[in-house]
Amino acid sequence: MSEHARNAAKIVAQRAPDRSPRVGIVLGSGLGGLADRIENRVVIDYADLPGFPVPSVQGHVGRLVLGTLGGVEVACLQGRVHLYEGHPASTVVPLVRTLQLLGCETFVATNAAGALDVDAVPGSLMLIVDHINMQGQNPLAGPNDESFGPRFPAMSGAYDLGLQQRLRESAARLGIALREGVYMALLGPCFETPAEIRAFARLGANAVGMSTVPEVIVARHCGMKVAAISVLTNLGAGLADEILSHDQTLHFSGLAAADLQRLVIEFLGST
Ligand code: HPA
Repeated sequence: MSEHARNAAKIVAQRAPDRSPRVGIVLGSGLGGLADRIENRVVIDYADLPGFPVPSVQGHVGRLVLGTLGGVEVACLQGRVHLYEGHPASTVVPLVRTLQLLGCETFVATNAAGALDVDAVPGSLMLIVDHINMQGQNPLAGPNDESFGPRFPAMSGAYDLGLQQRLRESAARLGIALREGVYMALLGPCFETPAEIRAFARLGANAVGMSTVPEVIVARHCGMKVAAISVLTNLGAGLADEILSHDQTLHFSGLAAADLQRLVIEFLGST
């Protein structure tokens, strides 16, 4: 895993010798458009990077885009892998560690999620302030590479308070309503049952999704500061009179994409 990351970072350094990304970004379902806003781009297909898996889901491409966004040098994972594709959680390890080896100190994750708060309007944004890992897997299971981080990393304060504040202030400047809450990661690929949604709400989740937590765990393990935002594409199963679908996820993430892009760019420029 770590060897893959080291080799991938070398290849990126060869292909983009004058780039020194400070912020790593991963884009969720239907949110890949942010990568198209990156200036002075160098694009590298995941297929060219050791340990980088090629995503299989509609709405996800697999490429690393380096360049400038909001005046900041970024490295953007355009397309991510999901556990429901059959990948073990450890598949995300090389992707995130490559960003860290390239010099990224901050990791920004975006995703599409279902809302558990009934007043959340589809297409609204939620700042993730904590998570609950219900995927039954952890990307750090297996031998630990001490050169990246400790065997037993703490997950308190995983979502950096300073970055949270910058995101709140950026959203306020733009007039974008930013909800806040706890993101629960599930294995998928089924959407939840109404009974599960009721149970998860009682457990303290404000949104449910099928991604992000593995990447956040790996990023925290290797010392990156983390910020994460969900696009709430729907109310959780049973909370509204509709049957959930991936098309709906893509539709509403597409509608919210403009707000998300503005927010991330404003946030990056706010240092
Ligand atoms: N559940 C899980 N993942 C999701 C949902 C949902 O309702 N919406 C978008 N991603």
